[in-house]
Amino acid sequence: MNATAPGLAPWPYPLWIAHRGAGHQAPENTLAAFRAGASHGYRAFECDVKLSADGVPFLLHDDTLQRTTPAHGVAGDRPWSELSRIDAGGWHSRAFAGEPIPSLEAIAAFVRRNGLALNIEIKPTPGLEAETGRVVALEAKRLWQGSAIQPLLSSFEPPSLAAARDAVPGLPRALLLDRLAPGWFELTQELGCAAVVTAYPLMDADVIARLHGAGLRALCYTVNDPAEAQRLIALGIDGIITDAVDRFSPAASGGMLLD
Ligand code: G3P
Ligand code: MG
Repeated sequence: MNATAPGLAPWPYPLWIAHRGAGHQAPENTLAAFRAGASHGYRAFECDVKLSADGVPFLLHDDTLQRTTPAHGVAGDRPWSELSRIDAGGWHSRAFAGEPIPSLEAIAAFVRRNGLALNIEIKPTPGLEAETGRVVALEAKRLWQGSAIQPLLSSFEPPSLAAARDAVPGLPRALLLDRLAPGWFELTQELGCAAVVTAYPLMDADVIARLHGAGLRALCYTVNDPAEAQRLIALGIDGIITDAVDRFSPAASGGMLLD
């Protein structure tokens, strides 16, 4: 945690964040992946959330089901009663066969009961950007009521962040960037974001100084290379999203390497 950075408001999230749960050790975006990350000492997690046809927020990265389940087609076209019965674990390995697609509600129960922090990436089915942002924010508010650490809502989609802001202004938001297009900084401010999460090659001393100078936090995805992790930590990065939960130990001195 980088809560004491000079001139910056406290930041409640740990530095190390397991990507898609811990989506290499176990099937991504399932409860099993969260358990795997927690068993490696991770206290913060990122996951991808979209809406079922009947408006239930659930975890899945892709728009479609075929990469990570035996089903096919657009996930958001199906009601939650169908999605909740699909095997999201067997594709990864036999040990996880039958692992279900989780609702955001199920993940909230796990992270709250275990005192973990969550970064919810709003990953809308195309065409549902604003609706997904609105519903996810309202559901996050309901599920984390009374919690000391609120979830961080992030998205590549500005309309999702704008709708989340309008629905629940008090929840922290972060703009995800896979390139630094002209106007990215102004857009971050317009959306009232507390942080920016970039692809890690984009993050350098200038970007971090600009963000910190405006009171914003700087995070990166998806850092699996030790040299890159060391570079970013030396620059003062506030969050590192990683798949490599078996290589990077949040508990180790400086949060670094197991090998
Ligand atoms: O939230 C950071 C990262 O997850 C963004 O990329 O494609 O893995 O969702 P992706
Ligand atoms: Mg993601």
